[in-house]
Amino acid sequence: MIEYTSLLQNYNLFKDEYEEAALRAFRSGWYILGPELERFEKEFASYLGVKNCVGLNSGTDALILAVRALGIGPGDEVIVPAGTYIASVLGITENGAKPVYVDSKSDTLLMDADKIEEAITDKTKAILPVHLYGQTCDMTKINTIAKKHGLYVIEDCAQCHGSKWDGKYAGTDSTISCFSFYPTKPLGALGDAGAVCTNDGELAQKVRMLRNYGSKVKYHNESVGVNSRLDEVQAAVLSVGLKHLDECNNIRIKIAEKYLSEINNPKVQLPVTDKNATHVFHLFPVIVDDQEKFRAHMESCGVKTQIHYPIPPFMAECYKGSDAEAVDGKERFKNAYMIATHEISLPIYSGMKDEDVAAVIKAANAY
Ligand SMILES: Cc1ncc(COP(=O)(O)O)c(C=O)c1O
Repeated sequence: MIEYTSLLQNYNLFKDEYEEAALRAFRSGWYILGPELERFEKEFASYLGVKNCVGLNSGTDALILAVRALGIGPGDEVIVPAGTYIASVLGITENGAKPVYVDSKSDTLLMDADKIEEAITDKTKAILPVHLYGQTCDMTKINTIAKKHGLYVIEDCAQCHGSKWDGKYAGTDSTISCFSFYPTKPLGALGDAGAVCTNDGELAQKVRMLRNYGSKVKYHNESVGVNSRLDEVQAAVLSVGLKHLDECNNIRIKIAEKYLSEINNPKVQLPVTDKNATHVFHLFPVIVDDQEKFRAHMESCGVKTQIHYPIPPFMAECYKGSDAEAVDGKERFKNAYMIATHEISLPIYSGMKDEDVAAVIKAANAY
C-alpha cells in the first residue's frame, strides 16, 4: 500500500543531522528562549529576506497573535477565504472579530481576489489570504486593494514555505505573515511550532511580548499575553529542515510535474498554477466527481489519499449560530463548497519512491 504521506521517510533523509541538532539542544541545559531559537529566527528571516521572525508554538497561535498585535477585536471584520482550514478563521474569532468570507477560484482553488472589494465594509480592518496547498494567492491584487482601502494584510503561510508570487517569497509582501511548522508542512518541526514574520519591528516586538505572558521584562506584564514559545529542541530541528527546504520543495515539484504531465484522465481535474506563482505543492489536490468513489478506487489500486477540508469553516459546528456561520454559504461560496465536496489529495512527499509515483499515476488514469 502506498501511504498518503510518510514523515518517517522524510525524517530518515536527514536523520543524522536532526539527531545531532536535537542532542545539541538537549545537552545545552537551556530549553526555552535560548540561542537555538535566536539562531533559527535569524536564519528563517534571512531565507525569506524579511526583517523579523518571531518563533511561536504553532501556526494557529501565529494567526491569533498576529491579529491581536494589530489591535483587531470585537466590532472589526477580517476578510478570509471561504475555502480554508479552520485555523485561518480561528485567528480571527479567537480575538472576537468577525470573519467575512470570499469565494475561491475553481481553477487554482485559492481565494478569488476579484471578489474581495465587494466584501469590504467600514468595519473591515484586514485581508487574510491563505496560500493553500503551497501556492501563493494573487498578492498583487490583494495588496493593491489593501492599500486603496487602508487595510492590513495578514498572510496565512502555513502551507507555502519557499513558494513565491512574482519572484517574492510568500510571507514577505504584507503587514505580517503566519507560518506553521507542523510536521507535515514544507518546513516541519518534529512537534508543534510556528512563527510570524514581518518587516515592521514594532509589530514584531508586540508579538514577542504577547508570546511571553505579555511581558518584555519579567513580572512587568504590559498586555494580556499567552505562553506561546517555540522551544529550543524544535528550533534546532527547524534549522536543519530549513537547510533542506529548497531541496525537499524541489522533490515535490518534480513529482507534481510528473502528475501534471502523465495524469490524463478527464475525470480527474488537475490543479492549476497561476503564471505569477511558484507552487511548492505542499499538497496535490485534484477535483473529482465523487470523493468516496475515487478514494475507494485509489485504495483498491493500493494508493491512500486524503480529503482536504470536507467541511468549510462557514459550516463548522463550532460556529453555529455565531456571525462566523454562513447559513447560505453553499450558494454564496459555490466554488469553496464545490472544492470541499470534490477535492482529493494525492500522495506527494520527499522520500516517495519513483515506482510509487508511477503507481499513483496509473491508478488515477484507471478511474
Ligand atoms: C492553512 C492553515 N492555517 C493554519 C494552520 C495551523 O497551523 P498549526 O497546526 O501549526 O496550528 C494550518 C495547519 O494545518 C493550516 O493548514
